Amino acid sequence: MATRTQSRASNRSSTNPSGSATTSRGNGNRSAFSWGDGAGPVLGAALAGVAFGLAANYGRKALMQGMESMAGDWDEILAAEHDMALAIFDKMLGTDATQSFKRNMLLMKLTHALDKHAHEEEMVVYPALREANETADADLLEGEHGYIKTYIYELNEMGPESATWLEKVREFRELVSTHAHMEEEQVFPRFKQTMDARQNDRITSLVNRDGFWMA
Ligand SMILES: [Fe+2]
Ligand SMILES: [Fe+2]
Repeated sequence: MATRTQSRASNRSSTNPSGSATTSRGNGNRSAFSWGDGAGPVLGAALAGVAFGLAANYGRKALMQGMESMAGDWDEILAAEHDMALAIFDKMLGTDATQSFKRNMLLMKLTHALDKHAHEEEMVVYPALREANETADADLLEGEHGYIKTYIYELNEMGPESATWLEKVREFRELVSTHAHMEEEQVFPRFKQTMDARQNDRITSLVNRDGFWMA
């Protein structure tokens, strides 16, 4: 039976002799930091843009955290992320060498998803495993994360038009699938069995928090 894992303006400034900053366009002595001469609205608009960007990013993160919080326990969140990554691999395997833009976009998406996921595991779950004397498995899994990064490096270096791109993606998927399989079928369930409800909630909360900052 297939397992869950298998099935799824820069305005260049110069300093004049009097020491005040001026623009390179030579328009007199207007300081880049002056709020006079109409600079206020420009700076105000720029600051508003930054504030909007921060708010949008915070909103996106809050939304993602909200989605993750509904996803269940830490091991269920991580299993769902495995499925998401494997689905990106499947899209990559459905491309051909003429679709270099799509291949690059999918590789970026996969890189971000795997980075976030690895951070959650390396900053929360694997340290907790070591604390519970599961050091050998934690070290083995963390070592495999290094090879996952190596595949990303190699794919970036070879470029999307390489004749061996699909072969490399297929090998990469196999590694991620085997790794995820070991976590989902062996390491995580065994670890979860040793936890009480409070410890389980604590790990879930830490994984959610880490994922929030990495989103
Ligand atoms: Fe992992
Ligand atoms: Fe994982």
